[in-house]
Amino acid sequence: MTATSTPEAPHGEPRVVAAMFGRIAGRYDLVNRLLSFGSDGRWRRFAADQARLRPGDRALDVASGTGDLAFELARRVGASGSVAGLDLTRAMLLLGQAKSRERREKRVDHHEGDAMNLPYRDDVFHAATMAFGGRNVPDLRGAFREMGRVVEPGGRIVFLELNRPKTFGFRQLFDFYFHTFSPLVGGLLSGDRAAYEYLPRSVDKFESVGDIAVCMRDAGLKDVTVHPLMFGVAVVHVGVAP
Ligand SMILES: C[S@@+](CC[C@H](N)C(=O)[O-])C[C@H]1O[C@@H](n2cnc3c(N)ncnc32)[C@H](O)[C@@H]1O
Repeated sequence: MTATSTPEAPHGEPRVVAAMFGRIAGRYDLVNRLLSFGSDGRWRRFAADQARLRPGDRALDVASGTGDLAFELARRVGASGSVAGLDLTRAMLLLGQAKSRERREKRVDHHEGDAMNLPYRDDVFHAATMAFGGRNVPDLRGAFREMGRVVEPGGRIVFLELNRPKTFGFRQLFDFYFHTFSPLVGGLLSGDRAAYEYLPRSVDKFESVGDIAVCMRDAGLKDVTVHPLMFGVAVVHVGVAP
């Protein structure tokens, strides 16, 4: 694999996706903060609230990366709760583990695994989340089905993802920002421009908001609700495990 090779489309082959995230892992958090003007933290906090966790609960964060959403979930499960953060890319997991150590955060465990084949028994979590990982998963329905399987009946499945806004003006701004500005800044900071060219392509080709809701329902999730954030630049979908 060369330094510039990158998946041509979303839903890439897991090994290719993991190699790409492995290359940008070191600067991933910094680039996120800059490119979202710090909004990514607010979006994750909203998503974590939607999981409706209670003290003592067990939560799962799929495609957890360096663990930012998992740490938000940990705040909501209290001292007696626990959170599993699962990701495909070892370099991201290692950064998540280092952050857990720095924060003395003992409630979050970081596990290596694939969203489409979760290494957990049925009904062991009270809620499951995924943030900004769905564009990379080849079978999103399968991933939702897996999340619904490992979450106890009635528990919530929360999905946060970037979205191309529909409103005239915002859509054009979004396209310019993600196609021109973000590959430049992301490329300079991470040293891998190709990965940040993949980002807008993956958003463009990703399921629309309506399709994600359909995907969730097809996977057996119930009572799906949709919550646009920042004029629809990010969207949170919530479903309930059957
Ligand atoms: C854009 S990052 C999001 C990380 C984190 N959730 C966040 O909020 O910053 C996408 C993550 O999805 C992971 N990923 C991609 N495909 C995956 C899969 N099939 N199973 C598990 N993780 C996957 C990547 O390794 C990467 O860490």
